Amino acid sequence: MLQGWNARRFVPGSLRSRVVLIASGFLLSVSPVAWAASDPAPGPIVITGADRRPATSLDGEWAAIVDPYFSGLFSFHHEEKANGWFLNQKAKPGDTGPTEYDFSTAPKLKVPGDWNTQRESLFFYEGPIWYERDFTYQAKGDSRVYLHVGAANYHSYFWVNGKKVCEHEGGYTAFNCDVTAELQAGANFVVAAVDNTRHEDNVPTLETDWWNYGGLHRSVSLIEVPDAFIDQYDVHLKRGEGSTIEGWVHVRDSQPGTKVEVEIPELAAKAEGVTGEDGKAAFSVQVSGLSRWSPESPKLYKVEVRAGQDSVDDLIGFRTIETRGTEILLNGKPVFLRGVSIHAEAPYRTGRANTEKDAETLLGWAKELGCNFVRLAHYPHDETMLRAADRMGLMVWSENPVYWALEFDNPKVLVKAEQQLDEEINTYRNHASIVLWSMANETPNTPARTAFIETEASRARALDPTRLITAALLVRAQGHTKIVDDKLGEALDVIGTNEYIGWYEQHPETADVTDWRIAYQKPLIMSEFGGGAKAGLHGGENDRWTEEYQANIYRHQLGMLNRIPQLRGMSPWCLMDFRSPNRPLTGIQDYFNRKGLISDQGVKKQAFFILQKAYKDRTVGKAE
Ligand code: GCU
Repeated sequence: MLQGWNARRFVPGSLRSRVVLIASGFLLSVSPVAWAASDPAPGPIVITGADRRPATSLDGEWAAIVDPYFSGLFSFHHEEKANGWFLNQKAKPGDTGPTEYDFSTAPKLKVPGDWNTQRESLFFYEGPIWYERDFTYQAKGDSRVYLHVGAANYHSYFWVNGKKVCEHEGGYTAFNCDVTAELQAGANFVVAAVDNTRHEDNVPTLETDWWNYGGLHRSVSLIEVPDAFIDQYDVHLKRGEGSTIEGWVHVRDSQPGTKVEVEIPELAAKAEGVTGEDGKAAFSVQVSGLSRWSPESPKLYKVEVRAGQDSVDDLIGFRTIETRGTEILLNGKPVFLRGVSIHAEAPYRTGRANTEKDAETLLGWAKELGCNFVRLAHYPHDETMLRAADRMGLMVWSENPVYWALEFDNPKVLVKAEQQLDEEINTYRNHASIVLWSMANETPNTPARTAFIETEASRARALDPTRLITAALLVRAQGHTKIVDDKLGEALDVIGTNEYIGWYEQHPETADVTDWRIAYQKPLIMSEFGGGAKAGLHGGENDRWTEEYQANIYRHQLGMLNRIPQLRGMSPWCLMDFRSPNRPLTGIQDYFNRKGLISDQGVKKQAFFILQKAYKDRTVGKAE
């Protein structure tokens, strides 16, 4: 039972120091910044391993009201309404005015799920949609409750029982809103408003070559934690001698001196630490008999993280990733990343991928292709995808959606990019499969862009010094020479480059006479190449859009790639056809980007088998 929830005016720990007296319903604040009931709700937080905690799922059918002018939240002079649709009001006799919305009679939308593929009328819709669902809740004891949102694209607002609990910007990262104070015993309701309108100063910006799937496209749940709980932790194998597992645990709102324990039963290893003023406790422990994680042997260990009343059990693989000159070393040995690029497009049903089945289908095709690596483009994919990559032994390139021409000279945009980067790294940092954090894709080579991404790269290194930093760069050409000298390369550990010889430039055969000049003695990953084909369309190898044409591009590309001495990986574009508003060609594209090696209906094209043979026979890339 939620004992005394109503009486318990929970004041988030970080604010406790500001409150000395609660008298007749008013909070008297001693800090210079007053905490007033009208202040915005505290911002959402990251919870590492949220998917490993017991949860009350809120997935399923939610009432949904399409609100193109956002009149449910804003008045006609664009101020937030006090009586917005988040109150979930019902018309009743004697009302002095109309109630012009009613969630109880509204049609439904499935959560998780983008709205575009759930209703024909919403296929191209871009704007706000309201969601509402009722739920009952009985907390187990003296605890905090967070509303966990796997992702909401793009700008989302949340209320519980009519009171705002948080707001979030960014379409592809998980976040958690403290709803402790707003929950009541038994019947509750949650309202969300999600607006997928693109804006110049968003991350990503106005243009993307993927569908702007809107809505609560990943799972929503309630997770209950003790007052002082483990909100973030990092457990990794120390580079070098390889027998030290180290990291840190952060206990939110803990007293300094809180003991933390990290235990790996299978290794009979246990480490202890004590939190400091910042709530963080470092630890390290020597282990023996460790089986390192690798694509050939993706060993995962149960890791128990405990602090005070809280504990969370994670499944973590231990490996090291680093570079040495132009080599990428996995567990100290040179490795070639045989990969493919993947969008989070659901096989067969299309729409945003968000299920275990979606992940296992997409990554199963990558394994069938002969991959040990996948580039999860162009935004953080959902945690089910990363759990599957951990299990299946696929190294991952994870990417912050700093895509094409953002407003790089706008400080607000940098803050947004850093917020999404923080959420990505702090949520996903314990996934052994992730070996590369990508800062960007195909950004214009300008001083503002370079400064922006250098800042992002420094932040990523500070957040996680155990992984490699990369980005997919544009390359320039002089005749048949490709030149990789984008200044941003100085800030990267691994250089990614995209090129489309045979599709957007020249002819497939041009690859045979193309050479590469790379300004950096660093590993190079050809992060994109390829061309389009409609599955089942056949003709000569010079007939664009046929499988034969696409296959021809791959044949010539592979020959060229083999002549790049410092090539250490490749992730051709891309595994499966995916939806894009830029690709309307009737009868061929029909709003799909057709560069997939497999169609959205699972039909493998000729190029799939060409690449599969090259990976299998190791005829591409330096054999490790
Ligand atoms: C670019 C971009 C991709 C895009 C691809 C294409 O390289 O990075 O997001 O889909 O080209 O044109 O198909």
